[in-house]
Amino acid sequence: MNKNSRRNEKNAPTRGKGAKNPLKTLKRLLVYAFSRNKLATAFMVIFVLFSSVTKITATQFVAKIINELSMPVNGISPDMVGIVYPSIIAISAIYLIGSASDFAYNIIMMYIANGTLKKMRDEMFAKMQKLPLKYFDSRTHGDLMSLYTNDVDTMRQLLTQTIPQLISSALTLVAVFVYMVIYSVTLLLVVLAVLIAIIFITKFVAGKSAKYYLTHQIALGGLNGYVEEMTEGQKVIKVFCHEEKARERFKILNDELNESGRKAHKYAFILGPVNNNLGYIQYVLVALVGVMVIAFGGESALLSVYCSALGNGVVGMIIAFLMASRQFNMPVQQVSQQLSAIVMALAGAERIFQMVDTLPEDGGGEVTLTFGENESGKWAWKKPAADGGYEYIPLKGDIRFDDVVFGYTDEKVILNNISLYAKPGQKIAFVGSTGAGKTTITNLINRFYDINSGTITYDGLDIKSIKKDDLRKSLGVVLQDTHLFTGTVMENIRYGRLDATDEECINAAKLANADFFISHLPEGYETKIKGDGANLSQGQRQLLAISRAMVSECPVLILDEATSSIDTRTEKLIEKGMDKLMEGRTVFVIAHRLSTVRNSHAIMVLEHGEIIERGSHEQLLEQKGKYYQLYTGAFELD
Ligand SMILES: Nc1ncnc2c1ncn2[C@@H]1O[C@H](COP(=O)(O)OP(=O)(O)O)[C@@H](O)[C@H]1O
Ligand SMILES: [Mg+2]
Repeated sequence: MNKNSRRNEKNAPTRGKGAKNPLKTLKRLLVYAFSRNKLATAFMVIFVLFSSVTKITATQFVAKIINELSMPVNGISPDMVGIVYPSIIAISAIYLIGSASDFAYNIIMMYIANGTLKKMRDEMFAKMQKLPLKYFDSRTHGDLMSLYTNDVDTMRQLLTQTIPQLISSALTLVAVFVYMVIYSVTLLLVVLAVLIAIIFITKFVAGKSAKYYLTHQIALGGLNGYVEEMTEGQKVIKVFCHEEKARERFKILNDELNESGRKAHKYAFILGPVNNNLGYIQYVLVALVGVMVIAFGGESALLSVYCSALGNGVVGMIIAFLMASRQFNMPVQQVSQQLSAIVMALAGAERIFQMVDTLPEDGGGEVTLTFGENESGKWAWKKPAADGGYEYIPLKGDIRFDDVVFGYTDEKVILNNISLYAKPGQKIAFVGSTGAGKTTITNLINRFYDINSGTITYDGLDIKSIKKDDLRKSLGVVLQDTHLFTGTVMENIRYGRLDATDEECINAAKLANADFFISHLPEGYETKIKGDGANLSQGQRQLLAISRAMVSECPVLILDEATSSIDTRTEKLIEKGMDKLMEGRTVFVIAHRLSTVRNSHAIMVLEHGEIIERGSHEQLLEQKGKYYQLYTGAFELD
C-alpha cells in the first residue's frame, strides 16, 4: 500500500465517530446526488417552494376570513356564508396544491435517492473488486458489510427525509420571516426570542444525543460482527460446547446496544416535548403582546396602512401572525430533530467515500499476454520495445526468485532472502511446518502482495512489468482454502476458464476424479452448490478446485495443499490426472504428504521464512537433515 492510500485511511472516520469533515462530505454528497439529476432537482426545489409558499398564503386567507366575519355589525347573518365562501374555496385549493406539491417532491426525492444509492453501491462494489488484498486483511467482513447496509441506509434517510426537509424548512423560514417583518416587528422579536431559546436547548440536547447515537452505532456494529462470527463458527461452538458462553457474550453486547439506544433516543425524544411547550409559551406571548399592540397602538404606521390596504383588520393580522409563528418554529424543530441522523449519515457517507477513494491495486506493468500474434502462433508476452514496436517473448513458465524479502506488515519480515528458480516444466515442492511461509511464497508469484526487496522474474521479465490481469491469467492456482460460489457444479468448474465447453469441464472433472462423486449427486453437474459448498465434503470441494485448475490452460500451476483433505486412495486415483495436469507445466506444489512431492525436480524445505535445505528427494535424504526427519517421521509435520 502506498503512502497516499495510507493517508486516506487515517482520515476516514472509524465506526462510531462523527465525520472528520462534515461540510466537505455534505457538499460532496449533494453534488453526487443532485448533479446527475439536474432537471429532477429543479422540479423538486420548485415543488418544495410551492409547498412552503402555499402554507404562508393559507394564513393570509384565514386572516381574511376572520376579518370578513368580524366586520358586519348586525350579528351573524346568512349572508356571511356568502361572504366567506370564496375564501374557504381558496384555502381548500391552496392546501390541495400544497399537499400535491408535498407528494410530488417526495416522489422526486425518492427517485433521486434510489438512483444515487444504486450508483453508490455499484461504485463501491466495483471498487471492492479492485482493492489490494491488504485492504481486506486490515478489516473485518462485518465492517465491510456495514458499508453496504448501515451506512447506505442512513444515507437513504438523509436523502429522502432530511434533505428535502432542510430545503423546505429553509424556504418556509425565509418566507415566514419576510411575512412577519412586513406585519409586525414587535411580534417578530417575541418569536425570535423564543426561537433562540429553542435553538440553545436543541444544541445542548442534540450534542448529547449525537454522542449516544454514535456509541449506539458502535454497539450495533459489534453485535452484527458477533452474530456473523458466531454463525460462521457454529460447528466450532458446538464441538467445544460453548453455546452458553456465546450466549453470555451476546447478552452483554445486546445490553450495550439496548443501553446506548435507550440513551440516544431518550435525548432525542426529550427535544420534541420541550420544544413543543416552548412553542405554546410563544403562542401565548405573541397573543398577549399582539393585544397590547392593538390596545396601545404601538405598532408602526406602516402596519395600519398595510392592514387597511389588504382589507384586513388588526385582529385578523394577529391570528395570522399566530399561525405564522407556529410555522416559524416548526421547521426549526424538524431540523433539530434530524440532527443526530445528519451526524450519523455524514459519518457513514465519509466512510463510503473513503472506501471509494482508496487507491486501487495497481494494474501492473505494460507487458501483456497475447495469443497467436507473433510468428510462433502461441502464447507470448508482448513487451513494448524502445523503438515504439513490440518484442514478443514466448510464454514458457520460467520463474525465478532473487533475494526476495517480504513481510505482510512493515513491522515483521516473513520471508528472508529467498532465491530459487523453476525452469519450464519443472516441479518444485515446498515443505515445512505450518507458518513457515509456503503459502506466502505463492502469494508473491501472482502478486497478491508486493515484495519489499529483491526480484521475481517470469520468463526473464520482472513480474512488476507484467500487467497483473495477464500475469494471473497465466497462473493456475488451487488455493489452500477452497472457495466455491453459489451456482451449479459445472459453473464452478468453468470458473477456471469462462469459455471452456461443457465437455472440457467434464473431462477436467474426470481427470481430477471428481466425475465419480459428481455423477452421484442428485442432479449431476447441474447440482446447485450452496453456502460455499456446505453440501459437499471438504475433499469433494478440493476435487472441484483441482478440476477448476485443470480447465484453465496455464503454463504455471500453483497447488497449495490441493490434496490435503483427499484420502490416500482417492489421491492415488487422481495421481494420473495430476501427472497429466502437471505435464509440460511449471508446477509449485505445497504438500503435507511427502509421498506426493518425492518425484519433484527440487524440494525446498522452509523454516521461519528461510529455505534451509534444497535438492531432490534422494539428495535430501542423503543429507539426513530436516527433510530426512520429516520423511522418516522422526519429526511430525504440524
Ligand atoms: N494476511 C496475512 N497478514 C499477516 N500475516 C500473515 C498473513 N498471512 C500469513 N501471515 C503470516 O505469515 C507467516 C507464514 O504464513 P503462511 O505462508 O501462510 O504459512 P504456511 O507455510 O503454513 O503456508 C505466518 O507466520 C502467518 O502468521
Ligand atoms: Mg499454507
